[in-house]
Amino acid sequence: MKKFFPAIFLLLFFLSACNSAVISDEEQQSLVIGFSQSGTESKWRKRHTDSIRTELEKNNQVLYRNGYMNQERQIQDIRTFIAYKVDMIVFTPLQEDGWEPVLKEAKQAAIPVIIVDRHINVSDQSLYVTHIGPSFKAEGNRGGLYVSNHFSTVEQPEINILELAGLPDTSPTTLRTDGFQETISRDNRMEVVDTLYGDYIRMKGKEQMEKYIEAHDISTIDVLYSHNDEMTHGALEALKKTDIVPGEDIVIVTIDAQEDMIEKLRAGEVNCVVECNPNAGWFVANAIERYFASDNKEDFVREIYMFETVFSETNLDKIPTRNY
Ligand code: AHR
Repeated sequence: MKKFFPAIFLLLFFLSACNSAVISDEEQQSLVIGFSQSGTESKWRKRHTDSIRTELEKNNQVLYRNGYMNQERQIQDIRTFIAYKVDMIVFTPLQEDGWEPVLKEAKQAAIPVIIVDRHINVSDQSLYVTHIGPSFKAEGNRGGLYVSNHFSTVEQPEINILELAGLPDTSPTTLRTDGFQETISRDNRMEVVDTLYGDYIRMKGKEQMEKYIEAHDISTIDVLYSHNDEMTHGALEALKKTDIVPGEDIVIVTIDAQEDMIEKLRAGEVNCVVECNPNAGWFVANAIERYFASDNKEDFVREIYMFETVFSETNLDKIPTRNY
């Protein structure tokens, strides 16, 4: 009986992962790919998941698992993919550290791994083939550049910035902070006076902002730099309870460019929306195809960047339709 359990479990797992995507005999299913997503904390993340699943399911069997923002769960999901002997593992890590042991297991099983979105911190770089994602540092640079330009003609001795950062120990958080800091530091009037952590979650962003407003004089803050749109929505809700007019009394810079935040940009409630591109699916499918076709797998490109842009009052009429 014991012997049958893993097989039954894997069959159930496979069926649940495929759910509505029934594989017909006519379709050529060349590879089995395990895709572990870190969570569903934002509309951005949901679009990211859909984009990857849709592209991969065109030509492959995809075993999909959601880690619900729990690293242990994600590790377990990757172990299940290894047990299933998938051809490739694609995963978007919740955080940077803690992946080395499970990736060693994947390597021992000769299963190549592609990292998408956030980065991982491992001493052995051969544990993954490539990383595909946005340049989080460039996103921070773009947010900082907007703030620098905005205040370049304003005569004001000090510019106080409040940063609403994402989940600590993740590369978007670290690099968005670094990129922003790099650009604003050229103007010595600018200072990030406080950094709050909202973990990329709307409710946490709201709570953090409410606490800050209770304990500080929010009217001294000139700029709110928020690492994602969900937290910005939360912060805007918190600001409603004050007499501060968002977009006028406080400049708001936010990252992701969800449709609902573009509406706020059009309404003048936020000033700058830095795009973080969630449409990773094509890039992932293309990398997998090239990897398996390559004679020189050891030398596969280590970093694949996705294009992104920035929106403000200057290009409102050129914002492409959002799909998230
Ligand atoms: O890792 C990318 C970030 O994670 C996105 O900016 C955010 O919305 C998501 O939760």
